Amino acid sequence: STQGFIFDLDGVIVDTAKYHYLAWKNLANNLGFDFTEEQNELFKGVSRVESLKLLLEIGDKTISQEEFNQLLISKNEEYLEYIEKMDASEILPDVPKVLMHLKDEKAPIALGSASKNATPILEKVQLLSYFDTIVDGNDVTKAKPDPEVFLLGAQQLNIPAEQCIVFEDSIAGIQAANKANMISIGIGDAKVLHEADHVFDDFTKISIQFLNKLIAG
Ligand code: BG6
Ligand code: MG
Repeated sequence: STQGFIFDLDGVIVDTAKYHYLAWKNLANNLGFDFTEEQNELFKGVSRVESLKLLLEIGDKTISQEEFNQLLISKNEEYLEYIEKMDASEILPDVPKVLMHLKDEKAPIALGSASKNATPILEKVQLLSYFDTIVDGNDVTKAKPDPEVFLLGAQQLNIPAEQCIVFEDSIAGIQAANKANMISIGIGDAKVLHEADHVFDDFTKISIQFLNKLIAG
């Protein structure tokens, strides 16, 4: 049986989690409160709209719908300035090696990201061609931890959910993969991602032998 591989983008393939954090932190500071890296863990994998709601809760702010929409725009404008300067050097360690191995083994590969900026980022770092399908923030209505994004990825790969493997750096994403009955692999801190089936600091810690076991199912 064929196994499908679904990759999150921000913080898994590229080092953009830091840019999202920076943009939210600046927004919080402008509204007069702080936003720590620890608080940011709960923002990873979460959609732009849900993130702003969470941030306003942290700062105990109530604003109009109009202001809310304006803040979403300015956050994204700042984020776009950061990613405009990106190149392949911001691909996380050993990601191309893993993608190449999966391609060599003819394993189907999907992107499963909450971001609405996913395709231009993959183009910028020249990894778009590895993906058989892209599911991103433009395709889903329910944000992670809802499994919608990964279930749609599996569907588009034409692989049953139980035969999919998800790589994620966020708590919300691991929960989404678990709810979808997929194998969840955390990329990051094992203490933060303790709900995952497996956790690795980064892709340099994942052996070809382990990948081959996943491919074999
Ligand atoms: C996720 C990030 O991948 O995408 C979140 O982990 C981000 O931090 C979300 O808020 C939405 O991204 P974007 O690019 O549509 O604002
Ligand atoms: Mg992520």
